[in-house]
Amino acid sequence: MRYELCSLYLFSTGVMCDSLQLSDMAVRERLDRSGVPYTLYYDNTGLAYPIQPQVKGDYACHLSDVKNMNLREGDVIQLGYPKSGNHWLFEILTMLVYHSHDYTHHTLGNNIIDGVPVDELDSMTSPRVLVSHLRTHSLPKQLFDKKIKIVLVLRNPKDVLISLYAFVSSIHICAPYRGSFDDFFEMFLSGTFAHGSWTEYTRECDEMLSRHPTHPIHIVTYEDMKQDPVREVKRLCKFLGYKEIHDEFVLNVVQKTDFHIMSHALNSGKLASMKYVFDEGAPGLFRKGTVGEWRNWFSESQNENFDRIFQSETKDIRLIDRIRQYL
Ligand code: A3P
Repeated sequence: MRYELCSLYLFSTGVMCDSLQLSDMAVRERLDRSGVPYTLYYDNTGLAYPIQPQVKGDYACHLSDVKNMNLREGDVIQLGYPKSGNHWLFEILTMLVYHSHDYTHHTLGNNIIDGVPVDELDSMTSPRVLVSHLRTHSLPKQLFDKKIKIVLVLRNPKDVLISLYAFVSSIHICAPYRGSFDDFFEMFLSGTFAHGSWTEYTRECDEMLSRHPTHPIHIVTYEDMKQDPVREVKRLCKFLGYKEIHDEFVLNVVQKTDFHIMSHALNSGKLASMKYVFDEGAPGLFRKGTVGEWRNWFSESQNENFDRIFQSETKDIRLIDRIRQYL
């Protein structure tokens, strides 16, 4: 690892939460290889999480609460590494689950188990579309016991990297980072920034699929949704168990969640207050919404480096086949 670990240690806890011992969940400031600081939560395995402003107490306790939270029949849980199209999928799923082609008043930020206190999640009415970027080992235990429907979104990690860099470079909360693209590129590849390695995230999802072969899990890719949103929305309807799927309804959902229409509606609607968490003039949650943007950012040597590391790390991950053609 080429960059230094900063020794500045803000606080660390070994806490008892619901009789579960969690050790050393800490907020730490670290430096990238050029000395630019960034601050994240770290667990005792070194996995980094963004700071969650809504979690008032200890983050380890929150993770313990999430692990033990109650899930209900009819809940749908949406999983995805950040910047994979989670907001897009969330709008589609809420429309499908509520049988409406209007945007709900919920935002992804209201429904994300990573950062919303569990008592607030408990007070939500059913049906719920819950969202998470957490590793599968941190997901609620009841997910598998109660056979809760899971929708997993994947995206070419090269585009995820660009999208994440653009996001964290302009945000003031959670995981702000003001370093260079080159330094961020290195951190993403080594999995040292918030959410850790994309490869490890995807490996855990792959293992989840192997361990729970009969669990209702639906996989979508950002690229497939871009290529044929009608087909993908119909596949989602089928997965959710809808017997009759009216073309007009599907077309309305697709139109409302089109990048330009959705970004305009949400930026001037339920996400209007989000603009204050970004630098002025930054694109915020809706940047370009395209496939293959990495080609405008990666140098030739970065691309070679990425491919070399990626190929060696992902040989045994079957899910990679879903996005391999876009790499
Ligand atoms: P870009 O930064 O490449 O533009 P997430 O919601 O997981 O944070 O993902 C953010 C990415 O999804 C951003 O990608 C964003 O522009 C894109 N996005 C958001 N809404 C979209 C939509 N309706 N259609 C296509 N892409 C969308």
